[in-house]
Amino acid sequence: LESGCLSIVVLGASGDLAKKKTFPALFHLFRQGFLQSNEVHIFGYARTKISSEELRERLRGYLSKGKEDSVEELDYLSKFLQLIKYVSGSYDSEEGFQLLNKEILEHESSKRSQLGTSRRLFYLALPPSVYPSVCKMIRNYCMNQSDLTGWTRIIVEKPFGKDLGSSEELSAQLGELFDEKQLYRIDHYLGKELVQNLLVVRFANRFFLPLWNRDNIDNVQIVFREDFGTEGRGGYFDEYGIIRDIIQNHLLQVFCLVAMEKPVSLKPEHIRDEKVKVLQSVLPIKLEEVVLGQYDGYKDDQTVSPNSNTPTFATVILRIHNERWEGVPFILKAGKALNSRKAEIRVQFKEVPGDIYKCQKQGRNEFVIRLQPLEAMYMKLTVKKPGLEMSTIQSELDLSYKQRYQDVAIPEAYERLILDTIRGDQQHFVRRDELKAAWEIFTPLLHRIEDGELKPLPYKPGSRGPAEADQLLAKAGYVQTHGYVWIPPTL
Ligand code: BG6
Repeated sequence: LESGCLSIVVLGASGDLAKKKTFPALFHLFRQGFLQSNEVHIFGYARTKISSEELRERLRGYLSKGKEDSVEELDYLSKFLQLIKYVSGSYDSEEGFQLLNKEILEHESSKRSQLGTSRRLFYLALPPSVYPSVCKMIRNYCMNQSDLTGWTRIIVEKPFGKDLGSSEELSAQLGELFDEKQLYRIDHYLGKELVQNLLVVRFANRFFLPLWNRDNIDNVQIVFREDFGTEGRGGYFDEYGIIRDIIQNHLLQVFCLVAMEKPVSLKPEHIRDEKVKVLQSVLPIKLEEVVLGQYDGYKDDQTVSPNSNTPTFATVILRIHNERWEGVPFILKAGKALNSRKAEIRVQFKEVPGDIYKCQKQGRNEFVIRLQPLEAMYMKLTVKKPGLEMSTIQSELDLSYKQRYQDVAIPEAYERLILDTIRGDQQHFVRRDELKAAWEIFTPLLHRIEDGELKPLPYKPGSRGPAEADQLLAKAGYVQTHGYVWIPPTL
């Protein structure tokens, strides 16, 4: 790992993302020794006129767990907060960024004699509308010192535009200012433990290699469910909807890792090449393979338009035109205000040919990867029901992480991704051509929703979503297992 002076700049330091994700992730990295006090400085930048001390006090409130904190923990927190300096300025003002640069330089020159590098990481916890101006300011005033070894890297987060055209425009604007090597487009699903596990499971296990194709797999579901609505974020959400908020990015990234071919090597570019290829093999979405929903009460939110056509639920079937997957539906489903909160991948296998147990069976083989909560992988299979009777029952081989890895704390997605950025590893970030391919898949559908050609069906908050979505699932070939429930093992 490189060492030397590292400046982490959180732009939008007083906002929601910074407080909920960025600063906690930085604190955890510090807590685990990945950010060393003798080389790291953290700068918060935003328009709000507050002092460094005020920012630190606010952050202390978010980062401490209150009464549960031990003396040691509080000590860590104080040391972490000492690393933070606040600079106030607007997102398009030269003075603001010149001042920011001055502060960074001061930090760098104080460390220069011992460390001799200039590493600058800019985290844009900001709405994308200001990305171009902020990036221009960084480019003009805040780049790493060229007389020292080092780098400048920029972390940005969705929404990257609203459709293919606007996203490409944004990409072009950023592309003029920074090389692709300097841009880290975060999709935090790529930082989740079980998402990172996908390629390992697929390509390091003989079990799966021969089965992972259209000859054996009947259908694949990638599901995201939340048991709360869009409270507090209605204004943002109403403009974007569930397809842009979850499916086009988070679920599509998972889809890539499930469906892509084996990369030439583990080099980030080789992996991302394969992701692009599988995205480019996706056929146009058919309207009859889409079900949209909007939960009752969504429009009661003052910030949501009273005649909003925005879906809060969607089931969309993707079909891949290649040798491995032709004919296999990939069912992507996401919804807000449903009856449970979880994200999982469900790979359902075909029937056993010439099955002599068919009449007794409860269901098909399924391989389930539960991304959250309670990370697990389990394989549903048919076994003899234990006892004197010769009958069959659906059971499972279960790898539940909490039970199997009791001493391991699973890191937060943002923590891992920020560390990857410091290390210069772009594997778990979205490349420009990948983003373009992702928008190409969904843009025609999104435009048809905007034109009002497709309307979301109403559903009750706390339900499974519109019944039509289950009908579509059955039509696509998914066979529900009856009388079986997976029970997460207890410690
Ligand atoms: C965000 C979406 O990207 O992901 C939110 O904007 C959603 O709407 C969140 O709630 C879900 O993330 P996680 O990690 O809780 O599954």
